[in-house]
Amino acid sequence: MPRTIFEPFRIKSVEPIRLTTREERERCLGEARLNVFRLRSDDVLLDFLTDSGTGAMSARQWAGIMAGDESYAGAPSFFRFEAAVRDLTGYPFVIPTHQGRAAERILFSVAAKRGDVVPSNTHFDTTRANLESLGVEPADLVIAEGREPRARHPFKGNVDLERVERLLVERGDRVPFGMVTVTNNSGGGQPVSLENLRAYRDLLARHGKPLVIDACRFAENAMFVKLREPGQGNRAVKEIAREMFSLADGCTMSAKKDGFANIGGFLALHDERWVEAARNLLVLTEGFPTYGGLAGRDLEAIATGLEEVLDESYLRYRLRTVEYLGEKLLAGGVAIVEPTGGHAVYLDARDFLPHLPKEDYPGWALCNALYLEGGIRGVEIGSVMFGKRLDDGTETYHHLDLVRLAFPRRVYTQSHFDYAAEVILELKAKARQVRGVRIEKQSRYLRHFTAELRWA
Ligand code: F0G
Repeated sequence: MPRTIFEPFRIKSVEPIRLTTREERERCLGEARLNVFRLRSDDVLLDFLTDSGTGAMSARQWAGIMAGDESYAGAPSFFRFEAAVRDLTGYPFVIPTHQGRAAERILFSVAAKRGDVVPSNTHFDTTRANLESLGVEPADLVIAEGREPRARHPFKGNVDLERVERLLVERGDRVPFGMVTVTNNSGGGQPVSLENLRAYRDLLARHGKPLVIDACRFAENAMFVKLREPGQGNRAVKEIAREMFSLADGCTMSAKKDGFANIGGFLALHDERWVEAARNLLVLTEGFPTYGGLAGRDLEAIATGLEEVLDESYLRYRLRTVEYLGEKLLAGGVAIVEPTGGHAVYLDARDFLPHLPKEDYPGWALCNALYLEGGIRGVEIGSVMFGKRLDDGTETYHHLDLVRLAFPRRVYTQSHFDYAAEVILELKAKARQVRGVRIEKQSRYLRHFTAELRWA
């Protein structure tokens, strides 16, 4: 029996990758003010900036694009989308949005108020920023192993229930609801176990608090549960996913990840409490309740994507691809977040570049070096993304400096990952030459998107 797990799809439509020289990349990065977010993507060879909205759609999804109904109100495409979300989540109230953060913004505006605190394993940067912009404190309460890049644990995304309990006892009156991110993106794409979800739900329920799942990568999480959680190996991934949703009162979703769509998202809720207020806000900023910020064709693509993503041969290949690159890097002595998560490999930049102090932003520096060395674009998950310049001019730093190489879904093949491994290992051999950076210009929220930097 062959053991190779291959890409379980054929390629019908291709896009060229333009090859560049190191000199060209030096010029491009300079023009981008040393910020890979500011690069033009056709100057990138392998784009691992994000797995969000970058996936390849299937022939069935493209067929849905043609079938999309663009009526302003009551389009059949909406009802197909609504039925797909209900079938998966069991939540009757489905509110489409143009992407995940719009769902977050709407939920937080109606369900939280200034001075509140919302616990999660780790809030993703848009979630954190949306809470903070409303004066709400995001509390990241992942288990201790989840904060240690090399601590091995099958469910490093689990919530630290003791710390949540302490928060509920001490400041329960300021907690409007609890959240959990599956998989835990900012912590390494690490899964959350069903057991932990259940205990978290019970704990919140004892204090009368609802649970909301940030569900972007629910299918990858469900596959990890199948592969790793005792007693789950014989269940269908779809059944596991449904159980995850059944343990919560609602979800925010970016369909750009496990929805296999290039754009889209939704807020789905179990009971009516926040629905009317949310729909009122939706009409103000996104659109009529049967399209949110989306075209009918997008709703079709998402409906089909939500079905396709639960294909277990796809999910097995997906998780294996991440593990495959991880294994090659570990064999070459590169420190990564272990075990590998569902959608990305995370390099430990402080280990890769031990000569750079945190003030030199080693995560950012490694990102730049990967681009210069091999045209690879990753993203810093570290002190530029999560640190801050306070009003008095002092800087805060994140406890980790990682570089995330996120894998677009169904886009790259094994030789692309072989190339990536080669580039990273070659860079490791000359890591001491990598220079640190300083921030020259930044905005108040989500500064990493637009910041301008210079060499330290
Ligand atoms: N929650 C998580 C866990 C995410 O990873 C993202 C997006 C969002 C919410 C927001 O969704 O982009 O549709 O508004 N993550 C992307 C990433 C951007 O690169 O990880 P969105």
